[in-house]
Amino acid sequence: MLESVQIKPSLTSADQLELGSAIARISRADAIHLNITDGHFCPNLTFGPALIRAVKRRSPLPVEAHVMATNPETIVQWALDAGADAVIFPIESCTSPLRLANHIKSTGARAGIALSPGTSPSTIEYCIGHFDMVLIMGVEPGFGGQALMDTTYGKVSRIYELARNTNPQLDIAVDGGVNRGNIARLAACGARSFCAGSSVFGTESPNGAIDRLRALAMGR
Ligand code: DX5
Repeated sequence: MLESVQIKPSLTSADQLELGSAIARISRADAIHLNITDGHFCPNLTFGPALIRAVKRRSPLPVEAHVMATNPETIVQWALDAGADAVIFPIESCTSPLRLANHIKSTGARAGIALSPGTSPSTIEYCIGHFDMVLIMGVEPGFGGQALMDTTYGKVSRIYELARNTNPQLDIAVDGGVNRGNIARLAACGARSFCAGSSVFGTESPNGAIDRLRALAMGR
């Protein structure tokens, strides 16, 4: 049984006219996950720095900004300026991941690197020791409500293997398609935090869904 895992609801999947009450209904989460997209890296426009600031004012939970953009350096800085506690950016569009990771950490925020489904874990082997978090996309970036790709399990296991010696504290996160039916297997592969949209906000009781997902991931 695992000692702890983190459940991080993704506000992309909440009712966009009711974000304040959505935040109140996830008080037992470990963090709030905000997708910051640019309409280029993935085909959607979601949130921006103003929402990061608003959520920080409303909730005591850490806020993580998941930047999905073709120019992550610019938007990462906006997220940091807005007070994000963790900032994640995609390996696919970043030309200097180490420089950006070090910059994020120099501000006191946690640095995360995201891998889209088509990206091999080996692409981050050289820099995995410099990140607090690796976020493995279980779906193509852009929209909530998609099914987890089967290839995700093997990628989580591979990242776990890569990190075991060089960065054992690495937070291995999965984003996209996480639900009650697959979270235990993802945890068994080495994932320790879970960005969940539909499986939290698509229920009558988001806090209850968080509790259930956490218990399943911990093997209870
Ligand atoms: C994809 C989105 C989703 C979202 C989670 O770009 O990032 O992964 O956070 O939504 P669900 O859990 O519905 O896939």
